Amino acid sequence: MSPDRLQLLVRDMPKAELHIHIEGSLEPELIFALAQRNGVALAYSDVEALRAAYAFTNLQSFLDIYYAGASVLLKEQDFFDMAWAYFMRAKADNVTRAELFFDPQTHTERGVAFATVIDGLHRACIAAQSELGIEAELILCFLRHLDEASAFATLEEARPHLGKFIGIGLDSSEVGHPPEKFAKVFADARKLGLRAVAHAGEEGPPAYIWSALDVLKVERIDHGVQSLKDPKLVARLVAERVPLTVCPLSNVKLCVFDKLGAHNLKTMLDRGIVATINSDDPAYFGGYINQNFAETFAALPLDANDAVALARNSFEASFATPAQKHAHRLALDAFFEARG
Ligand code: ADE
Ligand code: ZN
Repeated sequence: MSPDRLQLLVRDMPKAELHIHIEGSLEPELIFALAQRNGVALAYSDVEALRAAYAFTNLQSFLDIYYAGASVLLKEQDFFDMAWAYFMRAKADNVTRAELFFDPQTHTERGVAFATVIDGLHRACIAAQSELGIEAELILCFLRHLDEASAFATLEEARPHLGKFIGIGLDSSEVGHPPEKFAKVFADARKLGLRAVAHAGEEGPPAYIWSALDVLKVERIDHGVQSLKDPKLVARLVAERVPLTVCPLSNVKLCVFDKLGAHNLKTMLDRGIVATINSDDPAYFGGYINQNFAETFAALPLDANDAVALARNSFEASFATPAQKHAHRLALDAFFEARG
């Protein structure tokens, strides 16, 4: 298939997005609009000055700006508006299912009520389904730079809202905050019937991926790009079909790989890992999911078989119900059939 046709294929195919921090979809324009609406002072004079600060050297250099950006979110409507803006972009990229991470502690630590956060996001998820035909679910992430007690307090605050989110995750500063720190809170959350994922092996070592699997008992690994350093771990990921939610543009922006052409996504697929492509924090890293597909397919020797595998992997790796997965499989079959 020609490179041009391959680009159209990855653009148009239905896909699930499984690794998107909704606070990372806050575009500078919306940050400034919300700052004005809420009377919040920002350290940057305008949109251009803020964008100019998006030159990151590692994960922490990004997180410092990302948490500052989230400070403009105060009201339920702010959370709705942020998620709705994301869903409009997702629709344009042919996303038919999205599982959104949100970081409640980023907001509750500033005095915003947990209910304010989740009610705005949940209302947007309902509207995404009814108005855009996108299945949307929420995954509550604990911030790993905070302590276990804070994670437990967050799980308590979340209890009255159990019907509004499907799982828990673990994000923020990875190195120095191994998964073991959150063993008990993950165990309690799983007892509540919540699904579990965790960021591991973004900057941290393969050992963090092992403990995310064995201690936290997660069903997917977010990033996991360091896994290829450990052949035994790769064998396990392949044998158990543990999905990795890979975010290529993020990895380059945060200097995990020095260029997209050096990314290990193609190697992962060739080894049989259930890898997917996602945007992570699209407002900060240079693009939404289709931009990730377009640039990654331009930079690596990925072919039409890889495109089909990535689309299928995205739904297989999702937390959709069996009936929903069946419907997504039929939609993919029909799409690829029509494209020949
Ligand atoms: N929070 C938002 N984006 C993140 C990332 N790429 N890694 C860890 N925590 C995050
Ligand atoms: Zn992430």
